[in-house]
Amino acid sequence: MNQQAERQKSKQVCVSGQQYLCIEKSPLLAGEAQIHGAKNAVLVMMAATILADGVSELHNVPDSADVHQMIKVLECLGAAIVFETSKNHLIIDTRSLISCTVPAELMKKMRASVLVMGPLLARFGRVVIAQPGGCSIGARPVNFHMQNFRSLGASVDVFGESVCADTKHLQGTRIVLEYPSVGATENALMAATLAKGTTHIINAALEPEVVNLIEMLQKMGAAIEVKAPNTIEVEGVTTLKAVSLNVIPDRLEAGSLLLAAAITGGSISLPTARPDHLDVFLLKLQQMGHTIERGQNNVGISLQATDRPQAVSFTTAQYPGFPTDLQAPLMAALCLAQGESIIHEAVFENRLIHVKELQKMGADISVHGDRAIVRGVKKLIGCNVQASDIRASCALVLAGLAAQGTTHVFGVHHWKRGYQNLEEKLVRLGADIRLKTTH
Ligand code: UD1
Repeated sequence: MNQQAERQKSKQVCVSGQQYLCIEKSPLLAGEAQIHGAKNAVLVMMAATILADGVSELHNVPDSADVHQMIKVLECLGAAIVFETSKNHLIIDTRSLISCTVPAELMKKMRASVLVMGPLLARFGRVVIAQPGGCSIGARPVNFHMQNFRSLGASVDVFGESVCADTKHLQGTRIVLEYPSVGATENALMAATLAKGTTHIINAALEPEVVNLIEMLQKMGAAIEVKAPNTIEVEGVTTLKAVSLNVIPDRLEAGSLLLAAAITGGSISLPTARPDHLDVFLLKLQQMGHTIERGQNNVGISLQATDRPQAVSFTTAQYPGFPTDLQAPLMAALCLAQGESIIHEAVFENRLIHVKELQKMGADISVHGDRAIVRGVKKLIGCNVQASDIRASCALVLAGLAAQGTTHVFGVHHWKRGYQNLEEKLVRLGADIRLKTTH
C-alpha cells in the first residue's frame, strides 16, 4: 500500500474490530450463480404469518441480517421460530403469540418491522409500535400506512415515540394511495384480508414482492384480485390458515451479479433469475451495449459484457419502472461507460450519498438536486469508502471490482443486511474479495 493510501486508511479507520470488505481489481468475472430468495419479499411474508394461527413454512429464505432481525421481532411477539439456514428454510409458529407491542430498540434497527402492524391489527385488533423514523436515504414517513389503518376503521394515536392503533373490527373500504408505496400497500392489504366487507386499494404498488405476498395470502385463504389499473380488491374473510410457500428469487441480487459481470467485462448466467422482474433494468444494460439473453418461460438471464460500455440515462420509479434499489449499483458501472449519463432519483429524496464515495475513487459525477450527471472516466482507483445503505454498499463493491488497486468498503453491516454471502458468490466467479476486521 502506498503512503497516501495508508494515510487515507488511518483517517477512515478509527475503530478497531470493524469489519470491511477488501477488494482487489478483478479479472473478468465468468460463470453461473444461483440467486437467493428476495429479502424484501421474505420480510413481509414473515409478517403475514401473524394473520394465521398455525405453523407456516417459507422456503428459499436468505440468511441475511434483516431476516434475523425480523425473527427477533416475531419472537418478541411470542412466535416460535426455527431457521434452518443450511436449507434456507424458515418455520414460524404463530400459535403462541402473546404480545402486540414492538419495542423501540427492535423497531429502530429495521424500518420494515412496521409491516407487523397490519397483521396484528387485523388479527388482534391492537398494535403498539415505536415510530420507525428516517434513515440515510430519506425521511421515510409512514403517514400513508396510518391513514390507511384509519380508513379501515382503526383509531391510531401517537404518544411520544409510540404509535398505538386499535379497533373492534376493521371495515372494508376504498383506500387511495397518493403514491404507490410498497410498504403502505402491503400493510393495507394484510389488514384488509380479515376486515368485514370489500376493500379496494387504488394506485397500489405491484412490485414482484407485493405479488408474492398476494400469492401467499391467497394460499392462506384470502380473497384477493388484482384489477387494472393498479387496483387490489380484497374481500375480507374471517380466518386465514398457515401455509408453506416459496419466496421469489431476489431481483436486486440478480441485478447486482449482472452488473458485476458487466463492470469487469465478463459474462454470467443466472439460471433461476426472473427477467420479467427486471425488464427496464435489462433494457438499460442492453442500451449500454451488453448482450442479454432471457431464458424460456421467464426463467434465467445471461449477460455477455461489451468492452465498450455506453452511457445511459434513467429515472427511478415504481415497478415496472427502473428500481431505486438498483440506481446506485448501475451508477457504479456508468462511472466507466463512454459518455454522459443522467440519473434521476425520483423515489427517495436523499439517495445519492454514494456519489461522494464514488468520487473518492475517481468518478466524475456532479449532483444537481435529485439528479446526478455521470461522465464516464477511463479508470477508478481503489481507496477506503464508506457504505451508507444496503444498495450503496453494493455499488461500492462493484466499483471496487473494476478499480485499480485495492478498495476497502466499510459499513459492512449494510451489505450483510441485504445479501447472503454475496461476496462468496463473486469470489466463485473469479473476484478477489475478503471480509476483514480492523485491528
Ligand atoms: C420498499 C423496499 C425498499 C425499496 C422501496 C421502493 C422493503 C423492505 N423495502 O421500501 O428496498 O427501495 O420499497 O421500491 O420492501 N412514503 C411516504 N409515506 C409513507 C410511505 C412511503 O411518503 O407512508 C414515501 C417514501 O418516503 C418514499 C416513497 O414513498 O419516498 C416510496 O417508499 P415505499 O415504496 O413505501 O418504500 P418502502 O416500502 O419503505
